[in-house]
Amino acid sequence: MTVRWGVIGTGGIARSFVGDCTAAGVAFVAVGSRTQASAESFAAEYGIPRAHGSYEDLVADPDVDAVYVATPHARHADDALLAIEAGKHVLVEKAFTITAAEARRVVDAARHRDVAVMEAMWTRFLPQMTMIRELVAEGRIGRPRVVEATHHQDLPRDPSHRLNDPALGGGAILDLGVYPVSFAVDVLGAPVAVAAAGTLSDQGVDTQMGIVMTHEGGTQSTVHFALDVRSPNTASIIGEDGRIDIDATWYTPTTWRLRDRDGAVVEEYDSREELAGYAHEVRAFESMIVSGDRSGGAMPIAQTIAVMAAMDEARRQVGVRYAADDSSTAR
Ligand SMILES: NC(=O)c1ccc[n+]([C@@H]2O[C@H](COP(=O)([O-])OP(=O)(O)OC[C@H]3O[C@@H](n4cnc5c(N)ncnc54)[C@H](OP(=O)(O)O)[C@@H]3O)[C@@H](O)[C@H]2O)c1
Repeated sequence: MTVRWGVIGTGGIARSFVGDCTAAGVAFVAVGSRTQASAESFAAEYGIPRAHGSYEDLVADPDVDAVYVATPHARHADDALLAIEAGKHVLVEKAFTITAAEARRVVDAARHRDVAVMEAMWTRFLPQMTMIRELVAEGRIGRPRVVEATHHQDLPRDPSHRLNDPALGGGAILDLGVYPVSFAVDVLGAPVAVAAAGTLSDQGVDTQMGIVMTHEGGTQSTVHFALDVRSPNTASIIGEDGRIDIDATWYTPTTWRLRDRDGAVVEEYDSREELAGYAHEVRAFESMIVSGDRSGGAMPIAQTIAVMAAMDEARRQVGVRYAADDSSTAR
């Protein structure tokens, strides 16, 4: 069965994603935009047969099996629910939603309609990450005790840009922090405690934040992220018998090494020839759709909710509040 994709939103990531995945043979049959003109120019650029001038029309398209949601975070829950109600499988860009409560609503709706839903945390599906997960599971570094990871980028300063606008879920945490938080949850499981400190912009979103999470069994992760500085963005998994160091940029195919307890290199890896980007997660999601598997594979939906809950708590401590926090509390 070929999974036929529809896309919601025609912005930056929709372009990268559709470009990447078209090259890998993924079948895009329709695109939906808030404006007909934008849908048509996107469809023409990427050779997509149908252009819809509303998201409602896109999800009503009978030829669409799965919808990719590529709108700003603040719209993810509503756009995913729209697609689910129409009986479509949904791949939702990271951060999955604004709050864990929203995430639970989306997941409950997908269960109810028996459609697959997954967060598009593409990094988890890279062959490099699969190998790292296997090395840890095989005990090659002993019991993993600490995860360290950063995500720093120098992003647009324009106050109206979605990254700076609280109404669209702006701030470093949902855009950048979600990567290292998700990585820590991948390796160490859901956190049992979260301690965060950060700096807010004039608009009330976090420009930088550091989080220390304690996980099951007393393991810990430390993550730092910021949207107005650059760093190498490296990561380490430190175990009782060794460690894995991932070079810049850790969440893309790169070089990395397994070290023993004394720091000596045991094995070196160079994953830079791997296919970068979004095709791995799409193929994994398509397999889940076809097989009826609703587990989420490398991105289990329960971990998506755990990541959202950790970010809720970090934001609460630092004082980043979105409109969805009020509606989530009220529900
Ligand atoms: N996986 C990755 O590597 C990656 C990279 C970048 C971003 N992302 C994620 O993708 C999502 C979108 O980011 P982006 O950088 O693509 O954003 P963007 O360039 O601003 O595009 C977002 C699109 O969403 C639609 N939209 C609907 N309501 C909107 C509103 N109120 N304001 C602005 N746009 C609205 C627009 O499409 P229409 O006008 O066609 O409706 C717009 O083009 C975010 O959740 C982000 O975290 C993921």
